[in-house]
Amino acid sequence: MANVKVPYLDLKAQYQSIKPEIDAAIARVLDSCQFVLGSEVAGFERDFAAHSGTSECIALNSGTSALHLALLAAGVGPGHEVITVPFTFVASVAAVLYAGAKPVLVDIDPRSFTMDPAAIEAAITSRTKAILPVHLYGQSADMDPIMEIARRHALVVIEDAAQAHGAKYKGRPAGNIGDMACFSFYPGKNLGAYGEGGAVTTSNAEYARTIRMLRDWGQDHKYHHVLRGYNYRMEGFQGAILRVKLKHLDKWTEARRSIVRQYNELLADCEIETPEEMPWGRHVYHVYTLRTDDRDALQAALTAVGIQTGIHYPVPVHLQPAYSDLSYGPGAFPQAERAAKQVLSLPLYPELSSKAVVHVAEVVRKSVGVKAQAGVSR
Ligand SMILES: Cc1ncc(COP(=O)(O)O)c(C=O)c1O
Repeated sequence: MANVKVPYLDLKAQYQSIKPEIDAAIARVLDSCQFVLGSEVAGFERDFAAHSGTSECIALNSGTSALHLALLAAGVGPGHEVITVPFTFVASVAAVLYAGAKPVLVDIDPRSFTMDPAAIEAAITSRTKAILPVHLYGQSADMDPIMEIARRHALVVIEDAAQAHGAKYKGRPAGNIGDMACFSFYPGKNLGAYGEGGAVTTSNAEYARTIRMLRDWGQDHKYHHVLRGYNYRMEGFQGAILRVKLKHLDKWTEARRSIVRQYNELLADCEIETPEEMPWGRHVYHVYTLRTDDRDALQAALTAVGIQTGIHYPVPVHLQPAYSDLSYGPGAFPQAERAAKQVLSLPLYPELSSKAVVHVAEVVRKSVGVKAQAGVSR
């Protein structure tokens, strides 16, 4: 199989598997001409709230908009600080700046790649308004200690669940643990739209009401603007498509988890660290991320035979040129910086064949070698 091409992601394969349902959903929107919000979006909001175990879901035009509006609904603004992590997609930090507040970063726990609860208290000041943990790669942050600290200091908790559709923390769905949670439906996400999309889930009616107004120019009814809002509405096509895809999400998550078990078994004796599912949760593996000191060589070996990989993320946010004014230099967050040098994400999507997984694992094994003690028995 040396020349087989393995894409990192294959959106076409997924579309083909549900084509009649998707085409019918698109036709429904065309027939109704409800291109912005409308009944399909409202239906998706009901379905996704039920899936998340919350009473409310507000559909938006991106995960970034979700973070922005959740922060505004929480009352975050100029003069406030929000605690989040440097090892995330840049939007988690950028949204805090959109709200006019200051992002205060804390390091990650190296095993889960999520916010280290032990680092939070030292970062709290009289200006801290919220904590924004990120469920990175599809694994929930350790929410109990985060919620306990937040309650003790009267802080709002906003989960960045952009990568964690269907993930669980101690049996509860990610998205119904904090005060609000933010999802992205960017096409490559576990639940992906066919364009941009996002949502906030919450069981707080007041937050939901504020976000509903803010997404639609701050109107409480047509042309009556009680808040300074935005145009962050979800499109009808995306609502209709997401409603169809949500019905398949649990099955797709199981497929991802089964592929991960196969990767883990095939790579168990290799000179790499495979991802760990923490005892507190159910990982939905938005990405399958290895750690190795020889990351660049491994990526080159995979690329050479046509296997696509990703690096999530090569530079932590505090070392990005655009965020240098946050004034954290190299060495500020050793775990985030180490992870950025070591991580490599292998192809993973529900339709990835078992044969392709074996092929990818073989190339990884050849490139990194096996651990000494394991090597003896082979
Ligand atoms: C952790 C995280 N937060 C926020 C976002 C932003 O979502 P969107 O791209 O839908 O604006 C993403 C998307 O990649 C993400 O991965």
